[in-house]
Amino acid sequence: MTEHATAPTSSPDAGTDPLARLRAATAQLHAELDAGLPLARDRAGPRDYQQHLALLRTWVGLLRDGGARLALLDEEAVALDAELAECERVTGRRAPVVAMPAAAQPALQADGADWGLAYVLQGSRLGGQVLYKRLAQAMAPLRLGYLQGAGGATGARWKAFVAQLKTELADQPARTEAAVQAARQAFELLLACHRAMDGGTVAPARH
Ligand code: HEM
Repeated sequence: MTEHATAPTSSPDAGTDPLARLRAATAQLHAELDAGLPLARDRAGPRDYQQHLALLRTWVGLLRDGGARLALLDEEAVALDAELAECERVTGRRAPVVAMPAAAQPALQADGADWGLAYVLQGSRLGGQVLYKRLAQAMAPLRLGYLQGAGGATGARWKAFVAQLKTELADQPARTEAAVQAARQAFELLLACHRAMDGGTVAPARH
């Protein structure tokens, strides 16, 4: 992956600003994803896109099974299911199934955790835009609707989210800490799904 210059970086002095704390706590984990995800490969193609969707869909399910309750997660599940179906229709190939056991995740249930999860989900849409611009041509006839997401409105949505995050968590160290732990847990879970995929615990795509 070649765009680390624009990917989030950690700040050594995150202080109490919730956004800075979330960034600092997850920058390394993001870098691991950025370097390893199938879609980050230089010559990523439709199969990688299907793998990416399958990975995210498994992850969203694990977050929900782990106890996370956030409307955004339900929206992600709907968007991913629709895109997986669209890819299957266009390519005639099913996405792989990532086998990961569900487990309760107390870090996702704490007061404030939803803000950390929302940070990860909203932020992933920024990365989605970068990937969309990079991959759109190579992926035709797939339209990459999931990555495109809100398109040109993505930046404004992110700004609005960040403003809300800062207001909600201002002077709330315990909830901010819960958000940080939940965001880290969410990244760790996605990385675990990725390892399961790479380690061969992935059912082969059915044709
Ligand atoms: C290979 C895939 C990915 C690439 C290339 C990528 C790249 C990027 C880039 C370039 C940004 C900064 C965008 C901007 O400032 O306009 C960003 C932000 C972010 N991405 Fe990713 N991303 C990827 C996958 C993901 C995934 C799967 C997640 C979550 C599970 C994620 C979470 C985030 C978060 C939370 C931010 C916001 C960071 C901040 O500004 O505080 N990314 N990503």
